[in-house]
Amino acid sequence: MYICLEGIDGSGKSTQIELLLKWLDNCGIDVLMVFEPTESPAGKLIREMLQNPNATKTNFQNTLALLFAADRIILMDKIEAAEKEGKLVISDRCFYSSMVYQNDGDWISTINKFAKRPDLVLLLDIDPETAISRCEGKDSFEDIDFLIKIRERYLEIADKQGFMVVNAKNGLNKVHDDIKRVVARKLGMCI
Ligand code: TYD
Repeated sequence: MYICLEGIDGSGKSTQIELLLKWLDNCGIDVLMVFEPTESPAGKLIREMLQNPNATKTNFQNTLALLFAADRIILMDKIEAAEKEGKLVISDRCFYSSMVYQNDGDWISTINKFAKRPDLVLLLDIDPETAISRCEGKDSFEDIDFLIKIRERYLEIADKQGFMVVNAKNGLNKVHDDIKRVVARKLGMCI
């Protein structure tokens, strides 16, 4: 089983993934945690490019889309191997990040044809004003107008693809409980 958490920068994804992993561990579930961009050479190049002030421009985005796809394909082997061993895979971002951030549906689908689609996607939804106040000014995507567009695209795609949308503006514990409930249902657990 491959479960992905998505959300705009500052949605609290990393904190919630940490809490989710602790809870899964307490439940005795064997988990592989992965994240995109990864630590592969492509992932390292991506992180460097994200610092560039032009990162939101079209040609930069197209280049990033190709790099994200390359980085993701390599990750698929790791995910498939873990699934074969019966592990639950929890991913910080996946193919859908490219669909919303790089935003050219058909082309993004084509270059990601080797990327597995998750069995469950949780979208941590938050208004961009709150999200940006939580960011540390790390990269060029942490810009309010850009995040407003990204959030809209996330909500559109969530509707089409049946993501589970979690209100990420609620307190830490409430968001964690909401995530737990969705994951438990998917895994057929009682909580
Ligand atoms: P993020 O999860 O925010 O990493 P970190 O916790 O290290 O800041 O991801 C980095 C950025 O990469 C984020 O702004 C979203 C962007 N991104 C894309 O634009 N396309 C993609 O396909 C992926 C996976 C991420």
